[in-house]
Amino acid sequence: MNREKIIVIDFGGQYNQLVARRVRECGVYCEIYSYKTDIGQIRDMAPKGIILTGGPNSCYEEGAASCGRELFELGIPVLGLCYGAQLMMLTLGGHVCKAPVREYGKIEVTVDKSSKLFGDVSEKTICWMSHNDYIEKKAPGFRITGRTPDCPVAAAEWEEKDLYAIQFHPEVLHTQEGAKMLRNFVYQVCHCEGTWKMDAFAAASIQAIREKVGKGKALCALSGGVDSSVAAVLMSKAIGNQLTCVFVDHGLLRKNEGDEVEEVFGPKGPYELNFIRVNAQERFYEKLRGVEEPEQKRKIIGEEFIRVFEEEAKKIGAVDFLVQGTIYPDVVESGLGGESAVIKSHHNVGGLPDYVDFKEIMEPLRDLFKDEVRKVGLELGIPEKLVYRQPFPGPGLGIRIVGEVTPEKVVMVQEADAIYREEIARAGLDRTIGQYFAALTNMRSVGVMGDERTYDYAVALRAVNTVDFMTAETAEIPFEVLAKVMNRVINEVKGVNRVLYDLTSKPPGTIEFE
Ligand code: XMP
Repeated sequence: MNREKIIVIDFGGQYNQLVARRVRECGVYCEIYSYKTDIGQIRDMAPKGIILTGGPNSCYEEGAASCGRELFELGIPVLGLCYGAQLMMLTLGGHVCKAPVREYGKIEVTVDKSSKLFGDVSEKTICWMSHNDYIEKKAPGFRITGRTPDCPVAAAEWEEKDLYAIQFHPEVLHTQEGAKMLRNFVYQVCHCEGTWKMDAFAAASIQAIREKVGKGKALCALSGGVDSSVAAVLMSKAIGNQLTCVFVDHGLLRKNEGDEVEEVFGPKGPYELNFIRVNAQERFYEKLRGVEEPEQKRKIIGEEFIRVFEEEAKKIGAVDFLVQGTIYPDVVESGLGGESAVIKSHHNVGGLPDYVDFKEIMEPLRDLFKDEVRKVGLELGIPEKLVYRQPFPGPGLGIRIVGEVTPEKVVMVQEADAIYREEIARAGLDRTIGQYFAALTNMRSVGVMGDERTYDYAVALRAVNTVDFMTAETAEIPFEVLAKVMNRVINEVKGVNRVLYDLTSKPPGTIEFE
């Protein structure tokens, strides 16, 4: 599809995906490419603009991530951010070196409002800085459009050539007027039209899927999570019951989740598709019996999932397409998109089975960020409850029970988690916390209930906020809410006599508690 787009050239900065998301929030499609991408390929893509990201190196060091001078001579507007700004200046004849004062944090920048980037921005505006190096001398032809007391070139531009450099990070929310700056780049400098809209995406995808599938058959592993649900609905709207969805209930789902998924996708739900629910609880519990080691549990669950799915697929016979709920961050993180590749070793439900007879993989959400997937979901009429479902790992509660998984423990953690979620929602916090859940520790301790001594398990409550799930901060939940959850869990969940709140950030912890 030849759509209007901006490309982000990634130099390994931690905010590469954030930059692309912000551009898309402006209504313009944006993709991430490694700095190693061939200049010819970039020219052929004919983007409306190019954004260079930050990066961890010093651009003047031997072997540092770099781009050729030609990138600035394509006649395509370029915006360099942080490392990208320094690289632009260095490449075009300016001077970059270690700064006498390292700037880190929220810093007031004085900007020149006559710049197209800053027209509607306050003259003194708070921006997020994080740099050891600085642009000591701008490149010839540029004019300085932003300063701080410690940074003589916080922004510079060469308007006639459409080249813009800014030392700070407009993509992070700490830069109070960053969204305006990016919008200005996209519309005032790159003259985009803003054609990236989720309703248009849904309509175009449905059409494209129809054309591609023709009279063929498609098979989709449905987990009940946001991505596979939206992929399934999109497919179902396009090809109706040429689509079969297999939903494996591994007995490690949250309370009532299996039934909720069936309500939406099953025969009584609003969509036309073949829905197969496999109740495989016993099989999973059997395989997990006596196993304590977390990686081993993950492996068992992942493999068993594939076995169950394959068995169902065999019953269906050959299909033309296997549908996957891959989304854009998966593409970037698996090293196909940007530079800061992080290879995930997660066993996702929906991972690729070896022996399913299909011709082609279909990934209808491959271009979308999570928030866009949610918008498409709402656009397609999927219930909000499902669309705003929190991330839930493929191995499910299997990795929220420390130590051996037993059916009794699954019930404990399901009940505790349901209470926790209910109280968080009641306190109006459900959309403000990134991810929260209850886990069951492997610790039993003495308590007293009524007149009786107990020797029961401790539940751990976890709640974190995160931008990218690579790092996370513990969420500050009001004490009254925690106390209420504690009270209810102790009273309502048999086998639990203590409730702990996990204060650990990531790192050193992980988000999951396994
Ligand atoms: P961790 O625990 O690694 O989690 O800090 C980071 C994010 O990934 C989710 N997660 C998984 N998601 N399959 C998934 O689909 C998995 O095996 C898996 N393990 C962790 C976790 O919920 C968090 O959002």
